[in-house]
Amino acid sequence: MKSVRGFASATVGNVACGFDILGFAITEPGDEVILTRSERKHTGCPVTISSISGDGGKLPLDPRKNTSSFVVLKFLEYIRTHKGQDCTGHISLELKKHLPLSSGMGSSAASAAAALAAANELLGRPCTKMELVHFAIEGERVACGSAHADNAAPAILGNFVLIRSYTPLDLIVIPPPEKLFCSLVHPHTELRTSFARSVLPTDITLKDATRQWGNVGALVAGLLTSDYALVGRSLVDVVAEPKRAPLIPGFADVKEAALKAGALGCSIAGSGPSIFAFSDSAETALSAGEAMQKAFLASKNPLKSDMWVSPICREGARIL
Ligand code: HSE
Repeated sequence: MKSVRGFASATVGNVACGFDILGFAITEPGDEVILTRSERKHTGCPVTISSISGDGGKLPLDPRKNTSSFVVLKFLEYIRTHKGQDCTGHISLELKKHLPLSSGMGSSAASAAAALAAANELLGRPCTKMELVHFAIEGERVACGSAHADNAAPAILGNFVLIRSYTPLDLIVIPPPEKLFCSLVHPHTELRTSFARSVLPTDITLKDATRQWGNVGALVAGLLTSDYALVGRSLVDVVAEPKRAPLIPGFADVKEAALKAGALGCSIAGSGPSIFAFSDSAETALSAGEAMQKAFLASKNPLKSDMWVSPICREGARIL
């Protein structure tokens, strides 16, 4: 028997203007997946789930329906057909969820990325991290019905990841500016990604598209040149944020509180309800995060929240 423990952290998709094409990873919190391989012959599925903790009993135990086991099955199929490597025996999966579900913190991507890091290690590292991203994206399809990569890619690769193209997949890893810190605030309420996607427009005007392109380009330029002011003023989303903000009680007040506390910019984390802000020091990020929490509590529908201050994670999914 051999056991491997994989870890992958929370991620923030969209980063305001980059709907479905930009995301980044923070250092904590994250999900853990322990895979144990035994030579026991299996008759059915080569992967079974032995336990899940931290999900309040909400996640499926069926290995073909649970994101973390589903991506391991896809990985095993791939190494058999593309690398000529057969996994004899049986893999048992234990999932320790530390990320809240339906939070906008890339919860499903973190579980998938942790499982893939562990599976790759367990089988002698047949795949590169870039290859693993493909399976993690398929996991997103299982989790919420859409194969977006802006959580899955940074969960595996760390850093910021820009998705230049989905078909074929073309990912650009952007290392973060050194002094960039994220305040991530998770209000105690759930917002399902599938629902938050259903409120989005199917078409946008050329005027909005032009504004969005300008901000995405400038945000990437700001990240690459460590121009913190440019990063801040590029965190503008005219496509998803206006439609999703009404789904998050107190959003406008929380954003205003972050900016007043000195944050460079602030927007919805992924599909929400979490909200992130960027700052150019850990101290400001802490003040901004605390101000955001207070604003959630002071809103018309007061919400308690959790808050994390973190630099951008450079490592991505890893073995503990
Ligand atoms: N890009 C995805 C969305 C991220 O906005 O729906 C989900 O966390």
